[in-house]
Amino acid sequence: GAAVPFYGGHQAGIITPAQDRLHFVAFDVITDKKAELVELLQKWTAAAARMTQGRDAGAIGAVNGVPEAAPDDTGEALGLPPSGLTLTIGFGPTLFRTAEGKDRFGIADKRPAALADLPKFAKDALQPEISGGDICVQACAHDPQIAVHAVRNLARIGFGVVSVRWSQLGFGRTSSTSVTQQTARNLFGFKDGTANLKAEEPKLLDEQLWVAGGDGPDWMTGGSYMVTRKIRMLIETWDRTSLAEQEAIIGRNKGEGAALGSAKEFDEPNFDATGSDGAPAIARDAHVRLAHQQFNNGARLLRRGYNFVDGSDGLGRLNAGLFFIAYQRDPRKQFVAIQTRLSRQDALNEYIRHVSSGLFACPPGVSGADDYWGRALF
Ligand code: HEM
Repeated sequence: GAAVPFYGGHQAGIITPAQDRLHFVAFDVITDKKAELVELLQKWTAAAARMTQGRDAGAIGAVNGVPEAAPDDTGEALGLPPSGLTLTIGFGPTLFRTAEGKDRFGIADKRPAALADLPKFAKDALQPEISGGDICVQACAHDPQIAVHAVRNLARIGFGVVSVRWSQLGFGRTSSTSVTQQTARNLFGFKDGTANLKAEEPKLLDEQLWVAGGDGPDWMTGGSYMVTRKIRMLIETWDRTSLAEQEAIIGRNKGEGAALGSAKEFDEPNFDATGSDGAPAIARDAHVRLAHQQFNNGARLLRRGYNFVDGSDGLGRLNAGLFFIAYQRDPRKQFVAIQTRLSRQDALNEYIRHVSSGLFACPPGVSGADDYWGRALF
């Protein structure tokens, strides 16, 4: 239930040990006035600093104001602990230039080259109404009420300046981002996050996760790029697939999470090992082979996704899957390189469908009460 510090060199919610719950929201900016947007970012930052420490969104609070006014906090988090809440902001490509080519806020020249629109991948089935967005906020907490409260209050504060484009609830983190955490499982029943980038590897994080000085515009130094993909899992088909086939598709066993041909979860996979039949122990189209750094120019990701079940789909199937979130220093060399390979060859493709996509530049952390989200950008 403890609070995670809000201020710091990097934003919280990236290498913070992944919390259990997610409410992710993408906003469209509906004003063309830069001053209104900047004022909102200042208000949001102040509210985020308060809410992450377990306080009301506004300085007056849910029940202490005058009875004639709408409260500056909605109240559903009253009496609850901070629950590890982190709020992480990101700016989408359309904030810099709209789809129609308009530079609404005079920041088009500050758009990093690394924030290049993602290409269309093989088998993409993206729905535009739940993709993209000018600004996103990832709210993670151990209590769903806390994550929802935070997003709801940001939306409330943003009335007239931003509107909610889409949002996604998630449960059961599907990645561990610290060695202090046990590896959780995704809805295919497999451990997810074994070979993830972890908080305890600062040298690797500098190389793979954090944007360095000289990578692009200065305002992103110390930040990171976030890719989101809502991936529907065709779980009914998966559940009729044999255990051996499931393990072959992933390239790891289901119980221990060890790479096929290895004994333990954290043993390095041996991609050259062969079984008694002479075939590779980890199949050529296995997910972990195709996604591994050895076959992607050394590219790695910090995955931080969540399971979702959005009820059922009206056709007798659960609308379930993985809300994939990955952070990286340069999506062109990391997510795009890996997903290009996966989308063409991954054995998993028969059981999944990418239905939404997002790309956001997450600036460095807020340094103190006089700083605000995105200050260096505006
Ligand atoms: C590894 C599942 C989508 C990138 C894994 C592992 C599982 C898994 C079970 C092995 C354990 C681990 O190391 O975490 C899934 C499922 C997906 C999915 C069920 C879709 C529903 C993706 C996507 C990407 C990706 C879209 C990136 C484009 C990776 C990477 C690894 C990995 C980089 C580590 C590979 C290694 O170095 O061993 N995934 N994954 N995955 N996945 Fe996925």
